[in-house]
Amino acid sequence: MADGRMETRTQGTVEMSCAAAARRMTEPAPPEPADLERDLASIRVPLEESTTLPGRLYRDPAIFALEVDRIFTKMWLCVGRDEDVANPGDYLTRTIGSDSVIVMRDSDGTVNAFHNVCRHRGSRLLTEPCGGGLSRLRCPYHAWTYELNGALRSAPHMEDSRNFDKTAFGLHRVRLDTWDGFLFINFSPDGPGLMEHLAEMGSKFAHYRMGTLKRGKRLHYTVQANWKILAENYSECYHCSLIHPELNKVSHYMSGQTDLVNRATVGGWMDLRKDEYQTMTLSGQTQRPPLPWLPADEYRKIHYYIVYPNLLLSLHPDYVMTHQVWPVAPDRCEIVNDYLFDPAEVTKAGFDPSDASDFWDLTNKQDWKACELTQQGIGSGGYDRGRLSSLEWMVHIFDNFVADRLTGKTAPLPASRQTP
Ligand code: FES
Ligand SMILES: [Fe+2]
Repeated sequence: MADGRMETRTQGTVEMSCAAAARRMTEPAPPEPADLERDLASIRVPLEESTTLPGRLYRDPAIFALEVDRIFTKMWLCVGRDEDVANPGDYLTRTIGSDSVIVMRDSDGTVNAFHNVCRHRGSRLLTEPCGGGLSRLRCPYHAWTYELNGALRSAPHMEDSRNFDKTAFGLHRVRLDTWDGFLFINFSPDGPGLMEHLAEMGSKFAHYRMGTLKRGKRLHYTVQANWKILAENYSECYHCSLIHPELNKVSHYMSGQTDLVNRATVGGWMDLRKDEYQTMTLSGQTQRPPLPWLPADEYRKIHYYIVYPNLLLSLHPDYVMTHQVWPVAPDRCEIVNDYLFDPAEVTKAGFDPSDASDFWDLTNKQDWKACELTQQGIGSGGYDRGRLSSLEWMVHIFDNFVADRLTGKTAPLPASRQTP
């Protein structure tokens, strides 16, 4: 029985309580491995023969639960930036499925991650997405109180509880690591460390010095579409000439090339269309210079990567844009969209990031509309698997990443005529 917490044992037999049985009836049945393999067979072929994913992958609660279990609670997830918890007592929380994490800086300046679960009777501890100025963390239920480093400091009225060792009831830790200023957590205690997982990606953009950048703008979105639709949309510019006339004016939809495919990421670059264009804004112009340390051969490139599963990373000559994608239901995501700049620019009098953020806010909304229309189509009875263009190689690679994780069988990285 998967949910052992709901069992009651009677004379050697295992029975479920009525409440547990009722709840179980409402839980989605996990997909049969053989059904999953059969459903995904049509993408386990070269791009030129491949289909899109079957519809149930985008709408079935059982698939969504499987993705939470096999992807989002097993892989490194980007939760924000080091500067989001700049001072002791600053924290952020993120939730995926039934798991919630607290990322918090302690009084020594160390950033830690903990399950957002009290060690007494299990209450959630923090409910806000972010906050600061904590000196302790007090549970809202019976006031067990934790140090910022997770140690249990006080537990009222526990004097008569025998063999109660406070040192054994600190908050349960979640793995945390940083990469170029990005905070990543991993709910799984097992598996490779972050840098081992990122492999070539870990050093590919060291020359952008992303760890030094500061956020100048943050936007939030709710999108009524499956998280994979957003990832697939990000992975191709086949749609750009039609739905992004402003983007296509500055950066031609056919420009660029995929240049890194590994088990952690897929992405590549596009270039600016005209010599006088400097970056991705509505005019192609900006008052900001390129990042001062950036080599000149990067001045005309925009790099776009999915760092599986939830970080979309877009590097421009003068700023870096990120999207954190947080699935909350089979047909809904929350998005945190950050704009990172040279700190010398952010602190300048009159700093205004809106030329970058206005451009991408417009583009984002064009994308979200397309994603929501796609969710509506896939959610209807009329959808069947489509076919992919040669411009959708990264979509194919992403879909195979999903298939690898859901089936537990890692296939060779997909081959194509467009092999980088
Ligand atoms: S559940 Fe936290 S103090 Fe009781
Ligand atoms: Fe787009």
